[in-house]
Amino acid sequence: GKTLPTAITIFGAKGDLTKRKLIPALYNLYTDKHLPPVFTITCVDFLPEDEAAFKLDLLDGINTFSRNGKADEKEWEGFAKHISYLQGDFLKADTYNALKAKLDGFEKINKKNATHIFYFAVAPRFIEIIADALYKHKLCLREELDRIVVEKPFGTDLDTAKKLNRFLTKRFAEQQIYRIDHYLGKEAVQNIMAFRFANYVFEPLWNKDFVDHVQISVAEEVGVGKRGGYYDGAGALRDMVQNHLLQLLCIVAMDCPKFYKSELIRDSKTKVLKDIRPYTPAQVFKNVIRGQYTAGNVHGTPRLSYRKEEHVQPASNTETFVAARLFIDNDRWKGVPFFLRTGKSMPVQSSVIVVQFKDAPNKIFKDDITPNRLIISIQPELEISLLFESKVPGLKMKLKPVEMDFTYQESYTETIPEAYEALLLDVLDGNTTLFMRADQVEAAWKVVMPIVDAWKKYPAKQLHLYKAGTWGPSAATDILKPYAKDWFRLS
Ligand code: BG6
Repeated sequence: GKTLPTAITIFGAKGDLTKRKLIPALYNLYTDKHLPPVFTITCVDFLPEDEAAFKLDLLDGINTFSRNGKADEKEWEGFAKHISYLQGDFLKADTYNALKAKLDGFEKINKKNATHIFYFAVAPRFIEIIADALYKHKLCLREELDRIVVEKPFGTDLDTAKKLNRFLTKRFAEQQIYRIDHYLGKEAVQNIMAFRFANYVFEPLWNKDFVDHVQISVAEEVGVGKRGGYYDGAGALRDMVQNHLLQLLCIVAMDCPKFYKSELIRDSKTKVLKDIRPYTPAQVFKNVIRGQYTAGNVHGTPRLSYRKEEHVQPASNTETFVAARLFIDNDRWKGVPFFLRTGKSMPVQSSVIVVQFKDAPNKIFKDDITPNRLIISIQPELEISLLFESKVPGLKMKLKPVEMDFTYQESYTETIPEAYEALLLDVLDGNTTLFMRADQVEAAWKVVMPIVDAWKKYPAKQLHLYKAGTWGPSAATDILKPYAKDWFRLS
């Protein structure tokens, strides 16, 4: 369907996501000639907008947020011609009638069926409303051609996620539904499958016999910013762990699928989630640490305490930091802890996966031996390095760990696309590999539900405060023992 005329509809045209991510991504796809020859982008939102002013605001979004910086004037002009603004209330039939007229007109002019993509860049309360309207207005019935793209949060717990899945799958085929987890579109994340399954030096070691433990860290410098209204009801567990961190864990821990095929890859990832050991409430408090930032300093800029941030309850117990020790009870990973950590107002912005191997069994050297470590940096640096022991040059047998490094910068001249570019292109191509299937989302919720429940039952128990600009509560380090003294030092 790549060369078919394509009509993209974005619900939530005035939202942050459209301006920061979607339009810059579509613009870059356009300038790189990845969009189909005939396409149209209809941006729908509630308020009346002067179309020219609306487009200028989108241009400002590209200039500010695109990986390529400022837009090229000519290219922008060409691109902007394809964009239109449709004022409409998501709750009213008029909106969908107007949209239908537009989409029908688009097909008529082109004398061809068109691919229809409906992007839900809206608050969660609108998802079912819009989905139902698309269904009733017969806008999204053709399995091969019509697609919806749904952003997170996908439910707020297992029950609401199931309910939403049932609601959507009653109206659309599963293959029409693209549930986004943008971490799966990140270049360095996609590379993990290649790294693991196209090479043979690591995979034989990728199991409980050789791996001591795994650390997955996603540290963010940013605080809650202006998103308090959403975030205070969500917290880091729902905002980051349920989706992004668990997906990283799946890619690290999954078995090799039989073929590089969407369903097989997603089966393999889902199996990891199903094998994660569920915790009792007591185990939750032993294995999962939550924290909340207090006033501090991030890079010399003062940061308010979380409870004083905009739209945050003054006595909020919402966690802005989570560290967890999880176990995958299958043959490959039995007994190997996976440590997950994420937080806001951390000292650096950095996402890194560390696979630490077991101690060398040969004890023939006097020096303490540092275990081998494979370090996969996802952002902002894209890099894979292997730490190993080596003899320091000189007359004595003295050891010191050194690093073997692969950086994208040195190895490639290609530019690195944004996650949203990769994912939007996949939607255009009808490729669901990097999207979350219904059962995957539910399996991920199942993993975090014992934690959600335990914290709900004991809202203030063991909520550790940490100063903004620090590495989180010290309790987060305690759960590493005896596997490591400290978390891998991010920089
Ligand atoms: C989003 C979360 O899904 O991911 C945000 O809602 C978070 O809270 C963001 O900041 C992080 O994404 P990235 O791509 O900047 O690492």
